[in-house]
Amino acid sequence: MRKVDLQIFVEIYSRPELSDADQTLFREAREATRTSYSPYSNFCVGAALRLEDGTIVWGSNQENAAFPSGLCAERTAVFTAAVQHPGKRIDTIAIVACPAESRQFVPISPCGGCRQVLLEYEQKQGSPMRVLMDGENDQVTVFPSAAALLPNGFSAGHLQ
Ligand code: THU
Repeated sequence: MRKVDLQIFVEIYSRPELSDADQTLFREAREATRTSYSPYSNFCVGAALRLEDGTIVWGSNQENAAFPSGLCAERTAVFTAAVQHPGKRIDTIAIVACPAESRQFVPISPCGGCRQVLLEYEQKQGSPMRVLMDGENDQVTVFPSAAALLPNGFSAGHLQ
């Protein structure tokens, strides 16, 4: 037996260190939480992604009385981009969350299903999709790619 270290490098930024474009993306993601439909969890998630031409697309979680029929913010954003801007690469996606009763944003990390979907679209476009999220102490965590979020993930190659 041998152990293999699946190393992941993430970047941790203080907020002012972020580029203007990334700060804008966070602001947009926060605005996107206002479109959340989350009467069951009362937890509003917002995503904003920037396409290669600078276009910004929003997503937010959309819940349903039949719980599994709802969808997370990240997937809402990625699927909307795929439909409304086919063929354009996603450069970066920012993800934020706050309780419905306050605008106090809390750190969030994408669920496994969303990681899987981000990886699929990253592989489809053939270039890295940066993933930004709020961290502790007003810092920001930047994953350089969706693959970094899902080490050893399942993907199209396994179907060959
Ligand atoms: N949620 C997201 O939108 N993205 C995630 O990555 C994690 C969870 C949503 C789903 C549900 O509407 C609420 O947060 C509580 O799980």
